[in-house]
Amino acid sequence: MERGNFGTKIGVILATAGSAVGLGNIWRFPYMTGQNGGAAFILIYILCVIMFGIPGMVSEFIVGRHGAANAARAYKIIGGHKAWALVGIVGAITSMIILGFYAVVAGWCMQYLFASIFGGINGDAAYVAEYFKTFSSDAIKPTLWGITFILLTHLVVQNGVRNGIEKVSNLLMPCLFILLIIIVIAACLQPGAEKGIEFLLKPDFSKLNRNIFLEALGQAFFSLSLGTACLCTYASYFSRQTNLMKSAAQIAGIDTIVAILAGLMIFPAAFSVGVNPDCGPSLIFITLPNVFQQAFGGVHIIGYIIAILFYALLVLAALTSTISMHEIGTAFFFEELSRKKKGIFSHMNVSRKGGAWIESIICIIICIFCSLSMGGVKNLTLFNMSILDFCDFFTAQILLPLGAFVTCILVGWYVPKKVIRDEFTNWGTIRSTLFDIYLFAVRFICPICIIAIELYQTGLLK
Ligand code: PHE
Repeated sequence: MERGNFGTKIGVILATAGSAVGLGNIWRFPYMTGQNGGAAFILIYILCVIMFGIPGMVSEFIVGRHGAANAARAYKIIGGHKAWALVGIVGAITSMIILGFYAVVAGWCMQYLFASIFGGINGDAAYVAEYFKTFSSDAIKPTLWGITFILLTHLVVQNGVRNGIEKVSNLLMPCLFILLIIIVIAACLQPGAEKGIEFLLKPDFSKLNRNIFLEALGQAFFSLSLGTACLCTYASYFSRQTNLMKSAAQIAGIDTIVAILAGLMIFPAAFSVGVNPDCGPSLIFITLPNVFQQAFGGVHIIGYIIAILFYALLVLAALTSTISMHEIGTAFFFEELSRKKKGIFSHMNVSRKGGAWIESIICIIICIFCSLSMGGVKNLTLFNMSILDFCDFFTAQILLPLGAFVTCILVGWYVPKKVIRDEFTNWGTIRSTLFDIYLFAVRFICPICIIAIELYQTGLLK
């Protein structure tokens, strides 16, 4: 069976950065930063990206490129035992849960894009808040938008790696950067914007609390698409020339810059109209439409255009990420169910399109539950949280760190050092000055710190 691969170096970077840059940067990062006091949170976040994010990314890349197969098979190949496949399978399940709730939020963005074009969210603060509440708690509309988003993702993924994923990423990522820069400039030119910039860049350590470490860690993993086997799946399409360390550093850099730019477009605009950005997940849906209207309201057409550009940006960013989540399951179902010679699936012969459909249907079911839990159906909760909030919390703060932890243990301690060195140095063709630091990080720093942060958070470690 022919496996797809990325055609160009820039394709690798744009597609993988496309996975990393998404709602995690433009929706989740700003509201987390807003809730956790600004610059102090960002500092801890950046530390997490450097200390755990980059080594974790390289490890997943190594597993994926070495195995050149879907995540479950790749983990099995590098681990040398069937049991390691479980890590890939849990990763694929994690990504389905993420895609399920992520599509709901992406669907909200689509609704807001249309509403900003047709003027549906024009009104005072109370009107905008009510608009979001009525819309998100509706049983039908947001659910249909979520499903639409998954189907859109499906359309791209079923066309394969080079013709689907790489082509769309090469087109969308530059658009995304251009939109981002335009909005940042417009936001920072507002009178009073300095306060927002200060909030982002001047740390106030009195705002630090117990939760901040796990939140920053979870956010770093979520934003880098780490711990879901997503990077491992993409790396299985990398060529032998791809420099894994350099790519990880470049992608983490792009992802962090986009997150900070997202902050630079939201906070200056919010502070310029005296709005405090600590309202949580609804920040970009309740606070921002108002902020745009007030901040750019002097020249009405600018406020109108900025709002449209902003929600278009969110939709594009979300799409390049949902594509990557979808690909994990698609590759898994396609490769595992198309070549089985024995076992219960022996009579099946699933094509890539078939694999994509299985993935889409599972994610649509999760998406429906997440969407309805926002109010469409009463009491659809888990552990006192709406299913959507629970999926977000459970994946970002538990499953992703766990996935990254196990990958570090596998790569750091079980796989022969020669295999790791060969992958890291492209079989001795690139210099390996950072190899020892990398190995030390995956052996000791990442696993110990990840566990310590999890235990600290749960109160087991005081
Ligand atoms: N990194 C993506 C974002 O920031 C989300 C994501 C998580 C994508 C896990 C793939 C896998 O929005």
